[in-house]
Amino acid sequence: MFNREHTDIKDKELIFRDLLSTGRSTMLALGKESDPICEFALSTAAGLEKTPRLLESRFLYDARGSEIYENICAQPEYYLTRTEASMLDRFAAQISRITGSVTLLELGSGNSAKMDSLFREFLEQSSRIRYLPVDVSSSALRQAGKDIRRKFPDVHVIGIHSTYEKMFPLLSCFSPSLILFLGSTIGNLDEQETIRFFSRMTRQMEDGDFFLLGIDLVKDPALLEAAYNDAAGVTREFTRNLFVRMNRELGSGIDLETVEHEAKYNPDLRRIEIAARFDRGQQIRISPLGRTFSVRSGEKIRTEISRKFVLDEMPPFLSAFGLELREVFTDEKKWFGLLLLQKTRPSTLKPIYDA
Ligand code: AVJ
Repeated sequence: MFNREHTDIKDKELIFRDLLSTGRSTMLALGKESDPICEFALSTAAGLEKTPRLLESRFLYDARGSEIYENICAQPEYYLTRTEASMLDRFAAQISRITGSVTLLELGSGNSAKMDSLFREFLEQSSRIRYLPVDVSSSALRQAGKDIRRKFPDVHVIGIHSTYEKMFPLLSCFSPSLILFLGSTIGNLDEQETIRFFSRMTRQMEDGDFFLLGIDLVKDPALLEAAYNDAAGVTREFTRNLFVRMNRELGSGIDLETVEHEAKYNPDLRRIEIAARFDRGQQIRISPLGRTFSVRSGEKIRTEISRKFVLDEMPPFLSAFGLELREVFTDEKKWFGLLLLQKTRPSTLKPIYDA
């Protein structure tokens, strides 16, 4: 119980312990002290100052963005969600046998739709289980909570409206736990962000805690590019919605007709790179900061990366953080991987890598 990053964490810990004991389902927001519009404005301005320009992908998930993402998951080209969900159906029993009864904590839970088979298996083991979905979209959390309570009255749901980072200092409150990071959401982080993510998370995990990671695997670039350029144009709408949000929340004044979605596979970096391409020059205002950025005609602003992984490379990488491989699952086509890991040792990573 060291490395507490915030002084108020002790209070939150007390609140959580209290909540866990009452068994009532509820929702909490972490870091309410910061102003969300100000946070969005600062991050956007910082991203527009960079060369090349890029925006933080977590801001894609406002209420509308979360809705559009759910629609992406239903597109025929977007194989990720379907493949992972059917793997979870198939392997849930095995996963629950390995972990035993634990608190389920899902990072980036969205609509929590993939959890059903796990809930069923864990409810075979215990009459009541605890589930903590963590997401930056409060609307998605609220809806997921409602759906779960209706379908699984014996699942005690505590929704946590927070970024991952703000959540990490509380992880040990929920041990023994299985932390789930599904859908290849890890792919949104670049190499350095990934190291920081695992370093911070594993430092706060207790020995014996489990981690289930879903990763999209390297495959034919045509299949990858199709998944991010669906014929119905849903992914295009997802990218454009970020600029709709900027217009609404930051008064950016962008002509949305000039914003085009572009998703390409970069084989050297093994990642899909998603950008908004401006077909005409634009002035982007960040009203809360009183700043304006000029975007040239043809300029691109990156909105997301989605890294693709090689299954065999992951266990050695994760072992540096004290995460030991328990089981690997994959589908027949080897398109997607699920790694079940357990925290067994301290991280051997030098703190210098955890800036
Ligand atoms: C939610 C990050 C897993 O990278 O595949 C899908 C987001 N963006 N289509 C992904 C996304 C465009 C998705 N993740």
